Amino acid sequence: MDQDTLKRSAAQAALDLITGEFGRETVVGVGTGSTANYFIDLLAAHKHQFDAAVASSDATQKRLEGHGIRVLSTNAVSEIAAYVDGADEINPARELIKGGGGALTREKIVAASSNRFICIADASKRVPVLGAFPLPVEVIPMARGLVARKLAGIGGEPIWRDGFVTDNGNHILDVHGLRIEEPAKLEAYINNLVGAVCNGVFAAQAADIVVLASADGVELIGQ
Ligand code: A5P
Repeated sequence: MDQDTLKRSAAQAALDLITGEFGRETVVGVGTGSTANYFIDLLAAHKHQFDAAVASSDATQKRLEGHGIRVLSTNAVSEIAAYVDGADEINPARELIKGGGGALTREKIVAASSNRFICIADASKRVPVLGAFPLPVEVIPMARGLVARKLAGIGGEPIWRDGFVTDNGNHILDVHGLRIEEPAKLEAYINNLVGAVCNGVFAAQAADIVVLASADGVELIGQ
């Protein structure tokens, strides 16, 4: 089974988890990336059953609106029923690395604003320990060198994602060479670096449910 089929299966299974809760006031949080795009395309068929979506990136907002789904800002909603998004790596504790697409800051904001975070992925994203995927860190442009030196100081090899500007007007450092044994600790450490806006470790708030699709079927972890 190819990876796209698996991504779509995970997206469909996540949709099946939440459609029963849809009502006239339901707001759905929607992530960014190729797996999230499958979710958006499947969600479109249900657009009359919920109120609106909140998007974690400009690209996602555009795709949602292209389907005629109403998109609201996080500041305009008091409750988001569920946030559905992909991940770059997932460990057994449902802690994640995210931000391969550079949308990590808005993704973390929408995840933190939601009642539950449902992570959708194909089984290639499952790892025993986070860190083989370079950890994205969003930085204020003038602090890029400062934050990079701090990250090198803890054994990482930060590489500037040259030419890429986030939806928030910032830069991304992709940190190679980390073996992240204590994700929550690293997340907090990077959060405290002056000039770092956000990092792609999702451990303080891990996924509530991971929907993982493999050739053997769809597994719900944390359900
Ligand atoms: C976007 O910034 C990321 O956090 C994505 O959620 C992550 O990169 C997964 O993307 P794919 O679904 O395309 O693998």
